[in-house]
This record gives sequence, structure tokens and C-alpha cells, in this order.
Amino acid sequence: MSGQSASESVLATARAMNSQGLNQGSAGNVSVRDGGGFWITPSALPYDRCGADDMVWLDLAGQARGRRKPSSEWRMHADIYRTYPQAGAILHAHSPYCTTLACLERSIPAFHYMVAMAGGDSIRCAPYATFGTQALSDAAIAALRDRSAALLAHHGMICHAADLDRVLALAIEVETLARIYLQALAVAEPPVLPAAEMAEVLRRFKDYKA
Ligand code: 13P
Repeated sequence: MSGQSASESVLATARAMNSQGLNQGSAGNVSVRDGGGFWITPSALPYDRCGADDMVWLDLAGQARGRRKPSSEWRMHADIYRTYPQAGAILHAHSPYCTTLACLERSIPAFHYMVAMAGGDSIRCAPYATFGTQALSDAAIAALRDRSAALLAHHGMICHAADLDRVLALAIEVETLARIYLQALAVAEPPVLPAAEMAEVLRRFKDYKA
């Protein structure tokens, strides 16, 4: 997304998450780290009706600058940036397949080697807490330990990556894994790969670059 300002890139990513079927309406939210804070999508505004000047900048303590109210999940975004320094961008979506698993309070086990894309041998499902609360943020932070993606029970999914392009790609991958896991579950509970094999995949992912 070169040539775009950080706020333009956040809006473009939020629109892309909707057009790619990861989210709908004003559900979900997107942010990118910038300076000592981050740009985040506004609360309750459909992304196709927003301009870049509707994005809101907050510092990591939650002081907002902008004409709109920041996403109700600003605490969860701020806490992830504070806790996980490698996080450069965050995407939260109500993507259909991840949300189906989240409504069943099911984590994604190592049924496929690509689960390691999220940093470990599972993608955890955080326990339910009301949207926009510190309790939800605390649950997400715990589920993201040593991971870059998590499901949020009865809610959706959240992931972080180094930048906006990577966080959108990771969200698409996690949604695909959720879809395939649900397809497999329709036949039987799929067997999982051994821990040693997932450790080998994680080792190989460190060199998996163009
Ligand atoms: P916002 O519109 O406030 O970002 O809320 C959407 C959402 O998904 C809350 O979890």
C-alpha cells in the first residue's frame, strides 16, 4: 500500500476485509501502529461510507485525536500493541467460519500444518466477554500468547502482523483454516499432527520467504 498515508491504508484494509468476505457492515475493526500510537477505524460507521479523515489516531494510553469516536475495541488494539511489540497492524473481523467455531467455543487444533502460520500448534479460542470491555481485551491478550491469531468466543477473530498487507493475508489464511476444519468436522473429528511435526513446520516457516 505504498504511496498511501497510514489512515488511507487502514481504510483500504477495512474495505478489503469486507469485499473479501471476511466481515460485513461496520462489524470488525482495523488498525496500524504509527508513531507512539495507532490509527484505527471509527466506531459504527460502514467502511464504504468512510473517508480517510474518519480514521482516528490514539496514543497507547487511549487518548484520541480525530473527529470520530474510535472503534469500541480500541482497548484491545492498544493492549496488543503494548504487550506484543512485533504487532504493527491488527485486524478484528466477524468472519463467518472463524465465528462459527467461536460460537462453539472451539479452538483450531493442529489438524493442518498451516495452523503454524499463527505461531504455534493451535489457534486458541478466548473465553467470551462483552465487546469493547477490558475483560475482552484481557482474554484476547492471553489467547494471543505466542500466537498471532485467536478466536473470540461468541464474537469473531483477531490477528496481528508486522503490517496491514500481512495482517489481511493472515486473516484470510485463518478464515480458510476455519472453513476447512468445519468441513472436516462435518465428516469426523480430524486427527492432529504430532507436536514434534508442528515444531518442525514452525522451524521451516522461519526460512519460508521469497
Ligand atoms: P466498532 O464499530 O466500534 O469497531 O465495533 C465493531 C465490533 O466488531 C465490536 O467488536
